[in-house]
Amino acid sequence: MGTKIISKQSEGHLKELDRQKFRKNLLEEELKSNLNSKEISVFEAGCGHGHWLTSYCIKYPNKVCVGIDLIGQRIKKANCKKNKNGLTHLHFFKAELNEFLEVIPNKVIFEAIIFLFPDPWPKVRHHKKRMIQPNLLKNLAKRSLSGTSLYFRTDDVNYFEWTKSHIEESPFWEMDTSAPWLYEESTYFQDLMQCYFSLVAKKV
Ligand SMILES: C[S@@+](CC[C@H](N)C(=O)[O-])C[C@H]1O[C@@H](n2cnc3c(N)ncnc32)[C@H](O)[C@@H]1O
Repeated sequence: MGTKIISKQSEGHLKELDRQKFRKNLLEEELKSNLNSKEISVFEAGCGHGHWLTSYCIKYPNKVCVGIDLIGQRIKKANCKKNKNGLTHLHFFKAELNEFLEVIPNKVIFEAIIFLFPDPWPKVRHHKKRMIQPNLLKNLAKRSLSGTSLYFRTDDVNYFEWTKSHIEESPFWEMDTSAPWLYEESTYFQDLMQCYFSLVAKKV
């Protein structure tokens, strides 16, 4: 009975690994054919419907920008906005952040990275699901230049403190308390919030 449960669990795990491999291969191909630039001016993780990044690209149409989100329907909406505005330097991909960083071509460098209202996962047992983690900060640093800025905004004070302390403990990033916000434009989630907290860090 016990062995049966374990083998069912490992069978499920193997299937998930297969699905992950398949997803990553597809994404890798998609990136190879659609992302020709070496420098990405702004990378947005968890871009939702792409409201903020589209607005940024309307203002700065020559900057190459990339937004990713887990949810395909949101990326579909983001691509509609991009196409409606004829923004050829803006790219949206349906992707999970860690998988995206694993398969993005080696040459690609981010000049700015932004997280706007990422899911806060308030329960302690769910903190491991938060996007900001030591390993993520390390992997983002590999894709950054010295001076690359990381912008983070949340309505959840606990997630704000979590991110601040992870940055303070990271050998790759430091707080940049005098840096201005990259670009002010509300997002779907920002519009719903009464107040929020922002920080800027820079790659050391
Ligand atoms: C609360 S919404 C915020 C969306 C948008 N930034 C805004 O402010 O309106 C968080 C978004 O992050 C996406 N997301 C969560 N975890 C992710 C991950 N690991 N990789 C990519 N996207 C993720 C979700 O699908 C969701 O669209």
